[in-house]
Amino acid sequence: MGANLPKVVVLRWGHRLRDERVTTHVALTARALGAAGIMLTDVKDEKIRATLSEVVQNWGGTFFFQIGTSFKKAMKCWKAEGGMVVHLTAYGENIEASNVMERIHATGRDLLVMVGSRKVPAEFFSREISDFNVAVGNQPHSECSSLAVFLDRFFNGKELVNEFENARLEIIPQKHGKKVLSRGRA
Ligand SMILES: C[S@@+](CC[C@H](N)C(=O)[O-])C[C@H]1O[C@@H](n2cnc3c(N)ncnc32)[C@H](O)[C@@H]1O
Repeated sequence: MGANLPKVVVLRWGHRLRDERVTTHVALTARALGAAGIMLTDVKDEKIRATLSEVVQNWGGTFFFQIGTSFKKAMKCWKAEGGMVVHLTAYGENIEASNVMERIHATGRDLLVMVGSRKVPAEFFSREISDFNVAVGNQPHSECSSLAVFLDRFFNGKELVNEFENARLEIIPQKHGKKVLSRGRA
């Protein structure tokens, strides 16, 4: 993707220790679909840190993860640096039926994309927190599916051919079967 594209970071709100699998899937989605990193606020989950660290070592790239910062602090820093906040919610402006994506692109600013897990606080819908409330359709589904569709539309599909530098493992696409290139540790 072009170097001049805004940076996209994902914030997963409301993670509980029993949400480990879903949060890991949110992080894998974020990484594979072009986000620069993920913040997991207000909790420390060492298992997730270890899983993500292993994924980045094996599959390459520079994806960062910040775990345990307070939500308020993360939000304050992000906004102080000029970043914008997009909250993915079934209650927001429909990504297909409205021009919300054009308006987001037009800002040209770095983007913090917030997804929930359990019910999010009402203040998340306010202007003070979210510059845009975006619905990937107005039916409830999941943080992974909404994030995947949002990122793919934001990057216009270009993120799907991103190169991940310094990978130990690389999939060589095949019509049939599986081929993985393995470069041992340096
Ligand atoms: C499984 S949902 C939890 C919903 C929660 N039970 C509630 O009532 O708000 C988890 C997250 O998925 C995302 N999500 C679910 N459906 C969505 C949609 N249609 N559009 C955008 N995001 C959606 C939101 O970020 C939401 O916080």
